[in-house]
Parts: sequence; C-alpha cells; structure tokens
Amino acid sequence: MQILMFAKQKGGVGASTLAREMGTLAAAGGERVVFVDLDPQASLSKWWNRRTAGAADPPNPALAATRPDQLLGVLNHLRATDSTDLVVIDVPPSVHGFLLGIMQAADVIIIPVRPTADDFEALPDIVDMVERAGRRYAFVLTQAPTGRRIRAVEEAVPILARQGRVAGVVRFRGAFPAAGAVGRTATEYEPNGKAAAEMTELWAYVGAELRKMHRPPPSNLAAVV
Ligand SMILES: Nc1ncnc2c1ncn2[C@@H]1O[C@H](COP(=O)(O)OP(=O)(O)OP(=O)(O)O)[C@@H](O)[C@H]1O
Ligand SMILES: [Mg+2]
Repeated sequence: MQILMFAKQKGGVGASTLAREMGTLAAAGGERVVFVDLDPQASLSKWWNRRTAGAADPPNPALAATRPDQLLGVLNHLRATDSTDLVVIDVPPSVHGFLLGIMQAADVIIIPVRPTADDFEALPDIVDMVERAGRRYAFVLTQAPTGRRIRAVEEAVPILARQGRVAGVVRFRGAFPAAGAVGRTATEYEPNGKAAAEMTELWAYVGAELRKMHRPPPSNLAAVV
C-alpha cells in the first residue's frame, strides 16, 4: 500500500481537485484507492458524496472518514488487511503540527502552488515541514494562466525547479469546477479536453514517483528463514 499526500500553505490552490483527479486515475488503472479528507471544510468528502449518491456497487475510490489523530491507526489497519493499493490524503490549508507525522508516513507529497508572488512567498513554511518529514515531494504549478499572461508560468517553473522537482503545470480550466459540481473529474467529464490531457500527464509523473518508492512486502522466504 502506498500513500500520496498533498501539502499546501495557501487555500484554494487546487489540492482537492488534484486529489480527486489522481485518485480516480489510479482507480481507473485498477488500483484500489481510498481517499482521506483531513480538511474540516470537507470539499473532497462532499464531492465524493455527490459522486457516489445512489451507487449500487462499493465505490472505488472509497472514502475513509477519520480524524487526524486516528489516521495513523486507520493506515495501519488498511495495510494489515491488504485491502488498499493507494491512499490519497487531502489536507486543510496552512501548516498544522499534526501534519508532520502523517507526512512521514507518505510515499510521495505533492505541493500545489499558483504562479503568484503571494503563493511563492508562502511556500517556505510548507516546504520546511515537508523537508523535515524527509519524504519525496514535488511541486505542481496550478491554475496557471493561458494566453498573454503565460510569462507568469515561464518565470515560475524555474523558480520552483531550483527548490525541488516540478511534477507538472496545470492551467486554469473551466472543466475542473464544472466536473466537480457533478461529482466527476475533468478527465471523466471531458476525456478529450485539455484538462484531461494535463491530468493524464501529471498522473504519469506521480505514478512513476510512487513506483520508485514502492516497498515490496517481506518475502515468504525471509519469513521461513
Ligand atoms: N486548474 C484549475 N482551473 C480552474 N479552476 C480550478 C483549478 N483547480 C482548482 N480550481 C477551482 O478552484 C477552487 C479551489 O480548488 P480546490 O478546492 O481544489 O483547492 P484547495 O487547495 O483544495 O482549496 P481549499 O484550501 O479550500 O481546500 C475550486 O472551485 C476548483 O474547482
Ligand atoms: Mg481542499
């Protein structure tokens, strides 16, 4: 079982949106996915409720309702029961002390950030915490402008790249809120759209990062010896 976690300082950067997209792409690829929503605003849970209302079959991704202080126990349970391939953890805005222990359990942490001075100035707080956790992480540039204001993106990517890996660039696209309103992802809502293409590309990166971190279960041979 692997854990993909989001981390952010600013609100509204697109973390819940990316959590939905990455989780559903993993599930579409055959993985058994569980979402964990640590944000009291519960955007991910509300979207999941819209998505699964009236569903006949057990949904994949599933949703694990848990308080932050119970999460490590829930993760241990999911691991012990071998019922889950990927846990996707969405977080509240800003740096909370309780997040450090959870970050330490993550395989990969994604930090969404918009290409604005306000967002960039807020980054050190969260990057410090992620680095203290010592886990693999990457930035995603989100809600990046299209058209004439594209310079903001051209300038932002190298700044992020000096600090760490850049997993991808996601533009400002109406497909994300439109899909979210009906409990879908942009990838499902407009499979041939630009947002879907960006998400497929991002999932290729994130999936590859997760595979690098894959820890094989102890072999039977070792257990016998
Ligand atoms: N790339 C994008 N293009 C256009 N709209 C987006 C994009 N990403 C997110 N949004 C919209 O911006 C709003 C905030 O996104 P989201 O809820 O994913 O951010 P968040 O970081 O989880 O916010 P919060 O801090 O409230 O948890 C939502 O309405 C979402 O639909
Ligand atoms: Mg959110």
